[in-house]
Amino acid sequence: MAGMNVLGVETSCDETGVALVRSRPGEAPTLAAQALHSQVEMHADYGGVVPELASRDHIRRVLPLAREALRQAGAAVSDIDVVAYTRGPGLAGALLVGAGVACALGAALERPVLGVHHLEGHLLSPFLSADPPEFPFVALLVSGGHTQLMRVDGVGRYELLGETIDDAAGEAFDKSAKLMGLPYPGGPALAKLAEQGRPGVFRFSRPMTDRPGLDFSFSGLKTQVLLAWQQSDQSEQTRADIARAFEEAIVDTMIIKCRRALQAAGAKRLVIAGGVGANKRLRAELAAAGEKDGFKTYFPRLAFCTDNGAMIALAGAIRLAHGQHQDASVQVFPRWDLETLPPAM
Ligand code: KG4
Ligand code: ZN
Repeated sequence: MAGMNVLGVETSCDETGVALVRSRPGEAPTLAAQALHSQVEMHADYGGVVPELASRDHIRRVLPLAREALRQAGAAVSDIDVVAYTRGPGLAGALLVGAGVACALGAALERPVLGVHHLEGHLLSPFLSADPPEFPFVALLVSGGHTQLMRVDGVGRYELLGETIDDAAGEAFDKSAKLMGLPYPGGPALAKLAEQGRPGVFRFSRPMTDRPGLDFSFSGLKTQVLLAWQQSDQSEQTRADIARAFEEAIVDTMIIKCRRALQAAGAKRLVIAGGVGANKRLRAELAAAGEKDGFKTYFPRLAFCTDNGAMIALAGAIRLAHGQHQDASVQVFPRWDLETLPPAM
């Protein structure tokens, strides 16, 4: 097998992403081009993602983005050897757009297609970096929809160690931001605001750290934020102080659980993936904890923390390298348990 061009299509939520990854036998896959459109502005008026609008916008964006990615890579449609797309989990209508386009392309070009698990895309995204991790590692998957700790022994060898019993970490960021009047999507705005916050003015709890176990619970934190905000002078400085205390609580909690998970799994490598992985405090404090405890931290590049087509193309390329693909029947899985994937290596 000479080099393969894998087109990746991501449409699971509110970002349309298309990328081209080149895969050569015996070499690490490389990113040739990527194009992305975020629907954030469109959904901002509604304070959250409107699924029907998301699907319609994916339809408008996906082909122009595919053309753009091919143009950047200097490739023609006929150069595509495989089409990978996000098969789930995600919004059903949004997933169907990517699946429909990918399967139509596969059928027209007579090329194989591959339905990728969105979280596997996040999980493998550090392999787009120059210094990728070796197996086994522990992965902290922190996005708007998921918060999970996984033991990862190889591609498709995933063991769930712990997860949130209520809100996801990103959801907690977004909801707390909204409660203090920040516009959607509040997570990155709250993190930015926290940089202006003074330490020690407010203090929130570190949920579920006072007992053993690797599960998380973040819904109580937003109630603490709401009460602190309602009972305050509601000044700009207070909002920043609360944001800081919230971010410290959530980051501390994740560090405590990551340390426990690494110990439980006997692992020395920690991969952080998903949108909340873009959080500066989380990145800095986990790296510092790693230096202290002797584990190594792996972060995807900032652009690959949030949803993108590159991670889907990459996961597709890795699975393809192990001989996996499927026929071009359009089938998506809006709910999909990561542990049910077959091992690839
Ligand atoms: O992985 P992602 O793009 O989409 C999902 O698969 O959910 O993650 C989006 C989530 C949102 O909840 C967003 O608020 C959060 O990631 N996020 C952040 C930051 N950047 C994005 N949360 C905290 N700090 C950030 N810098
Ligand atoms: Zn995601």
